[in-house]
Amino acid sequence: MPEETLTITDNRTSKTYTVPLFKGCIRTMDLRQIKVNDDDFGVMGYDPAFMNTASCQSAITFIDGDKGILRYRGYPIEQLAEQCTYLEVAYLILNGELPTESQLKDFVKEVTYHTMVHENVKKFMDGFHYDAHPMGMLMSTMAALATFYPEARKIGDPASRRLQILRLLGKMPTIAAYAYRHSLGLPYVDPNNSLSYTENFMSMLWKMPAEPVYKPNPVLARALDVLFILHADHEQNCSTNAMRSVGSSQADPFASTAAAIGALWGPLHGGANEQVLVMLDEIGKMENIPAFIADVKAGKGKLMGFGHRVYKNYDPRAKIIKRTAEEVFQVTGRNPKLDIAMELEKIALSDEYFIKRKLYPNVDFYSGIIYQALGFTPDIFTVLFAIGRNVGWLAQWQELLGDKEQKIARPRQIYTGYDQRDVVPLNKRGK
Ligand code: ACO
Repeated sequence: MPEETLTITDNRTSKTYTVPLFKGCIRTMDLRQIKVNDDDFGVMGYDPAFMNTASCQSAITFIDGDKGILRYRGYPIEQLAEQCTYLEVAYLILNGELPTESQLKDFVKEVTYHTMVHENVKKFMDGFHYDAHPMGMLMSTMAALATFYPEARKIGDPASRRLQILRLLGKMPTIAAYAYRHSLGLPYVDPNNSLSYTENFMSMLWKMPAEPVYKPNPVLARALDVLFILHADHEQNCSTNAMRSVGSSQADPFASTAAAIGALWGPLHGGANEQVLVMLDEIGKMENIPAFIADVKAGKGKLMGFGHRVYKNYDPRAKIIKRTAEEVFQVTGRNPKLDIAMELEKIALSDEYFIKRKLYPNVDFYSGIIYQALGFTPDIFTVLFAIGRNVGWLAQWQELLGDKEQKIARPRQIYTGYDQRDVVPLNKRGK
């Protein structure tokens, strides 16, 4: 069998080094032995935006971007979206195995009993401006939860970790719904323990105080549950990397989750679902599509909801979303934006610019169209993404804390500033 090593020759010194390969990678610390002299710091890796650097080992999510494969703990996303509930998948992602019936029952009960928030959280949320963006409200309220649960800082205690995970899973939809109600000037609705995770979320969003009962439509509740499953984890994406990076300083999980929410908010990440709707509104009519595509190709903007760092083939989640959209439209009526989206997709997939760059629709391209049909306004779309991804962040955080190789995340840099220079007294500096 050939040796699992790389041989590197330093042409500056003509010295040769043998570096072990570990699971197809080199450990860049092994490069530090490559020096021109004893004072030399040694060779480092330079990889802005982590284009080719693995930051951890993980057993949670597998993606083959070229083949369009996504699996959680080995199970294909298509099967999980077809056969499981979000909390079943959440249990799988957190614990590594699908739950038995009794394990699921206990888990659902535990999460359900952590959906309420302290009354002061409501008062805190009342302080937001009437048009505050729901992602800003979600992020800051999540960070504020750290002050309600100071024991969350005991990140080395497995029982405390588990409790915070249950709290975060239970309370995120409540806070998300309160952010939504706040922006509409509606009173907050308390959680209802007789409903499922997603139905309860819908009730907290849409139950009117004057109506004694709110009955979520089962097709729409299932569609939202499937959307949460599709968003549940996606290995080392930008927000998960933020969660791990902040978590690596041993910050509590509420602070780390707030950081992950901040990363998700950006338009190149989860914020893209909101931007897709903004884009479709801007295009407005079918006849404007060719001019819009021409502008994108001329570098005047991006086709939002297209392209992915890892997927260089159709995003498998986008395929499932397209199917789910049809089920939702049977109940809500067809969202007219779907026609524009499908035409955009058709043109883009046959255009040399997009083909050459392997740009395909990602999860955000169609999700916003469903969210809008369900009755959500675009500013809440990324909040819905955050609810689904919450469990992925938590599982990755848990994995990080159990990984003996991990330390505080602290990248190196290549310094490009001045060499040492002396301070000139203020009165002698030029204008
Ligand atoms: N529209 C037009 N051109 C694009 C798009 C797009 N959506 N995405 C990438 N390109 C082009 C780039 O301009 C670049 O072209 P060039 O080689 O001529 O310079 C080439 O394709 C490669 O793109 P990069 O930006 O280098 O790819 P990267 O992996 O860094 O970025 C990203 C991936 C951020 C997702 C990018 O495709 C993008 O901005 N897409 C639009 C925003 C979006 O939908 N984000 C959601 C991603 S999924 C998620 O986070 C849930």
